[in-house]
Amino acid sequence: MKEEVQNLIDTATLIMSESKDMLHDKGHISRMITDWNILSTKINKKIDCDVVVLAICWHDTWLATHNYEGIIGALFEYIYEGVGSMLMFNKIAKRECLDEKTRKDVAYAIKNHPGLPTSKHKTIEAKILWDVDNLETWSWERLVGMYEENKSNKQMIAMAKTYFEIVMKKRTSDRLYFDWSKSEFDKRKKVFLEKIRQYEKDGVVRL
Ligand SMILES: [Fe+2]
Repeated sequence: MKEEVQNLIDTATLIMSESKDMLHDKGHISRMITDWNILSTKINKKIDCDVVVLAICWHDTWLATHNYEGIIGALFEYIYEGVGSMLMFNKIAKRECLDEKTRKDVAYAIKNHPGLPTSKHKTIEAKILWDVDNLETWSWERLVGMYEENKSNKQMIAMAKTYFEIVMKKRTSDRLYFDWSKSEFDKRKKVFLEKIRQYEKDGVVRL
C-alpha cells in the first residue's frame, strides 16, 4: 500500500476513534470494512480498492467532530455532512500529496454518500460506499449502544422512535446496488425487527 494512503487511513482512524457520536465512530467504520471485504469477492468489475477504503474511512469524519443539537441541528448535519467530510479529506489528502485522480474519486464518493432516495451514484466506488453504509442501518451493536447511552434522554428517544417508525422501518433494499448487499439488507432487517419486537415484549427496550 502507498505510504500516503496508509497515512490517510491512520489519520481517519484516529479521528473516528475519538468520536463521541456512537453512530459514527470507529466501530461503524470497521463493520463497513468487514462488509466491504466480503462484497469485494462478489463483484466482477474493476474497482480501485484505495478509493473504497479511503472513502469508507473518511466519509463520517465531519459528523465525528461536530455536534449540532435538536431537529434543526440534525437537519443541518444531514445536509452538510457529505460536503463537510469531503473538505476534511481534501485538506489532508493534499497535504499527503495523494494523486489527483484518487483524491477526486474519494471526494466524489464521500460528498455523495448521504444522498437522497432518488440519487444515482456515478462511480462503482461510490456505489460500494453507499451499500456498505446502508447495511449499517441494521447494526444491532450500533443501535443498542446508542439506546443505552441515551435512554434517559426523553427528547432523544422520542426523536429516535419517530425516525425508527417513519424512516428506518420503511427502508428497503431497492436502493442498494449489488445483489449481495440487497440480500444482506433484507436478512439483517428481518433479524433486527424480530429482536426489537422481542425486546419490547420483554420490556428491555421501551420505544
Ligand atoms: Fe456512515
